[in-house]
Amino acid sequence: MSSSNAGSGEEIAYVNGEFLPISEATISIEDRGFQFADGVYEVVSSYGGRPYAMAAHMERLQRSLNEVRIDFDVAYLPGFVQQGISRAGFSEALVYLQVTRGVAPRHHEFPDHKPKPTVVMTVKQLHRPDPVLHETGVAVITAPDQRWKRCDIKSIALLPNILAKQLAHEADAYEALLVDDDDRVTEGSSTSSFRVAGETVYTSPSGTHILPSITRAVLIELIETLGIRLCESFSTVHQYKTADEVFLAGTTTEAMPVIRVDDVTIGDGTPGPITRRIRQAFVESVRSR
Ligand code: PDD
Repeated sequence: MSSSNAGSGEEIAYVNGEFLPISEATISIEDRGFQFADGVYEVVSSYGGRPYAMAAHMERLQRSLNEVRIDFDVAYLPGFVQQGISRAGFSEALVYLQVTRGVAPRHHEFPDHKPKPTVVMTVKQLHRPDPVLHETGVAVITAPDQRWKRCDIKSIALLPNILAKQLAHEADAYEALLVDDDDRVTEGSSTSSFRVAGETVYTSPSGTHILPSITRAVLIELIETLGIRLCESFSTVHQYKTADEVFLAGTTTEAMPVIRVDDVTIGDGTPGPITRRIRQAFVESVRSR
């Protein structure tokens, strides 16, 4: 591998058992991930060179694989993730892991010969959102939730998510809150979402309409530890727009205050006290692990 970026780390890939430079990493055009989005993925971040919440990510990956009936055991992956992070040399790394059903001629049904699942990992430097955004808060838009009915599976089929995110991008917004046919906010296109009304934090309940977000689970625990009331129930767009506070959560986003939903200002237009407490608790929990 070249050492053009030696010292500050180097992006690397891992494909089916081999580490190599990203520019040299390839997969077959007959991979079912490429042809059908027949695969699942995980995004893991590291703090100080150590992957965050690895066990939870692996558990979710195994569950996604089982749900789509890809016969693969994730047990050996954590070692490769750690090795990838060490080899790449970034203390804050973004690890992308993808497992597909493998390479086979294009027929919709599972291939008879049971190909070996394709395992791809990339390790890149993680650029977390500008810290200023945690002070100012971000704007979001609302967009229709056009995803399939198994959003609990971390499928690589993300077309509805990217179309919604693109709308947000075009509106100079950080994220799109996805709205279902009953006018309820499910989550963000690549984040979980929360609103605060009075002293209570609300977030969509677990189920097939949202991803079981690792950060969401961590924040829920912290919210309970902080003694803040938490209610896992759906909220409408109107409830979001009239909330005292709104925030997003995700592996790269952490806990991010939202100060505008479409053209409506949330609270006084600055990150609210409950969001700040939760974010602070998150930062401290990461530091002390
Ligand atoms: N996205 N909801 C959706 C739809 C997501 O895609 C994500 C993560 C989350 C947050 O989950 P977690 O806390 O486990 O990161 C919620 C990842 C980061 C991505 O697709 O890049």
